[in-house]
Amino acid sequence: MAQYKIPVIPGDGIGPEIVAEGKKVLDTAGEVYGFDIDWTRYPHGAEHYLETGELMSEDTLKELSGYDAIYLGSIGDPRIPPGVLEQGILLTTRFYFDQYINLRPVKLLKGVATPLKDKGPEDIDFVVVRENTEDLYIGVGGHASAGRSHGTAEIVRNLYQVKFDLDVETDADEIAYQIGLISRQGSERVIKYAFELASDPSRKQHLSSVDKANVMTDIYGFWREVFTSVADGYPDIETDFNFVDAICMWFVKNPEWFDVVVTPNMFGDIITDLGAMIQGGLGLAPGGNINPDGVSMFEPIHGSAPKHKGLNKVNPIATIWAGAMLIEELGERDAAQAIIGAIEANLADGKVKTYDLGGSAGTSDVGDDIARRLSA
Ligand code: IPM
Ligand code: MN
Repeated sequence: MAQYKIPVIPGDGIGPEIVAEGKKVLDTAGEVYGFDIDWTRYPHGAEHYLETGELMSEDTLKELSGYDAIYLGSIGDPRIPPGVLEQGILLTTRFYFDQYINLRPVKLLKGVATPLKDKGPEDIDFVVVRENTEDLYIGVGGHASAGRSHGTAEIVRNLYQVKFDLDVETDADEIAYQIGLISRQGSERVIKYAFELASDPSRKQHLSSVDKANVMTDIYGFWREVFTSVADGYPDIETDFNFVDAICMWFVKNPEWFDVVVTPNMFGDIITDLGAMIQGGLGLAPGGNINPDGVSMFEPIHGSAPKHKGLNKVNPIATIWAGAMLIEELGERDAAQAIIGAIEANLADGKVKTYDLGGSAGTSDVGDDIARRLSA
């Protein structure tokens, strides 16, 4: 019997409750499909940070590199300023393991209502491949004002003066900036991954690229250039370029146009929340942070929803679905398909559903129902 060791970071807020259901369903899938998961819990999150001062240490990351895949609940806590946990735990882990693909299916499952009028499951079925290591997420920026600065603010202060003929000290008292970076290697690898995905016989052989090459000509013009050169190797895949503002409109108006969408990091963050809404809500949207040759990490794309913590109220489906993606990455394709099938059966039946879908079932009821359908 296949044996997998999977570290799990339940995290903050509703994280522990949703992860418990994901584990339950994966364990059941293991019984049915003949594998066994040995879970190792990691305490990282707000509480652990407040107690020990550790966000995500080098030692923990080294330990985690001994595994194939990490299962993550959610990170974020109102007691801690925004950005500290997100950067210190989530982004640190994504970057350390070079999880350069953020794979986010946008699929309306049967039985789920979409806010889009006259659209159904046959119209909303695409996948967003979000670059996950570069762009505006590299963490290079600064903030300067007369008498105080941090980051490489001096350089920007000078640039600002050259460009606008303004003296920061006197004319403009405060500036802040954040730099985005796209590298050839970094964009090429994710664009290639997206082309491979679009080439899968199960897909429609269509890849859409997202940018803002009409304004940020340097970085997104370069993204386009790299996309075009990778496209030469895939003559059978139909391609198109979309400005990010326009693709927000098309996701709402004509979601059926899309099959695989590849995007730089920042735009990918934004358009996948939109994607989550058209597939029925954040409670249904999973994501994978993937390094095809390394350690990947799977999580729901929603946050820690602190106000719902401990109430056995929120929808665990995004996390259960992320679990299906995890087990698929480990090679258990049948089990992954069966979990998604059981989620669909739960939703189509519509009896055991959480408040976000108009029901009153608890988080654990939904996990139980999906696990039961899997073993039936
Ligand atoms: C996401 C989240 C993260 C991101 C935050 C929490 C750092 O919004 O996974 O989409 O911006 O990538
Ligand atoms: Mn996001």
